[in-house]
Amino acid sequence: MTIGSIRAAMERDGVARVGRLFPLPLLERIRAEVLRRHHSGELRRRGLVRDIAGRYAAVLPFAGPFLDPRFYANPALHAKLGTLLGPDYCIGSLEAVIAEPGAGRQHQHIDGPVRFDRLVGGRKVPYSADLSGLPPYAVTLAVPLCAVTDENGPTAVWKGSHRAALRPRPPGEREVYRRYPLETLSVPFGEAYLFDFRVFHGGMPNDAPEPRAVLMFVFTRSWYRDPNQNEVFPSVVISERDLGRVPARHRPLFMLAPSARRRLWKGA
Ligand SMILES: [Fe+2]
Repeated sequence: MTIGSIRAAMERDGVARVGRLFPLPLLERIRAEVLRRHHSGELRRRGLVRDIAGRYAAVLPFAGPFLDPRFYANPALHAKLGTLLGPDYCIGSLEAVIAEPGAGRQHQHIDGPVRFDRLVGGRKVPYSADLSGLPPYAVTLAVPLCAVTDENGPTAVWKGSHRAALRPRPPGEREVYRRYPLETLSVPFGEAYLFDFRVFHGGMPNDAPEPRAVLMFVFTRSWYRDPNQNEVFPSVVISERDLGRVPARHRPLFMLAPSARRRLWKGA
């Protein structure tokens, strides 16, 4: 897909298939690393979300195969991200979402909404202007670590619903069902797709005997912070030593990692 067609799909649908970005041997090493951490129980122990209908999400450190610049600064991807998020975007988080065999359907939701509500006389009053034309502030690159089929828990996306997410009163579940076409994203291993944080989506059941692992690689404008990460720290994990090996031109991508920041007070 070209940059123009991805931008058009993201504007129209809030989701775009981006095809193959990563060399398969690299993706296979990444898969082995994620499954190793999953099977050892480490990932679940460090989970952001312990369990949503049999699935959990956990932040992954940039270590081992994730330190390959073809992964974190993939040239084909980064040409596209700038057209969506402007020149100053950074990594928001790198997560694995594991749907265990038997995982049920996940509720319909959007990721990390931006709201401008105010309290007036103790009552929450929504910002009344139409924000549906705002460009994206955060996008997720979903990278399946296995073939995602209708059987093992694809993500269902209501195409075009990102435009309604920041309305003064966001649409309820039934309205989203009624107004927007649903696509369940079956994706072969090796391919990936992008989705806007604002698009309504939810994971489908995993009826297969194997866990379904998907990387959720989040990119944001430099000012955005994902409220889903409020309880944990850090959302971007890379050691000082490994960050020192990242080429200077790619280092701004890691600006949210503690190792990239200037410490003002000792012990803080
Ligand atoms: Fe989500």
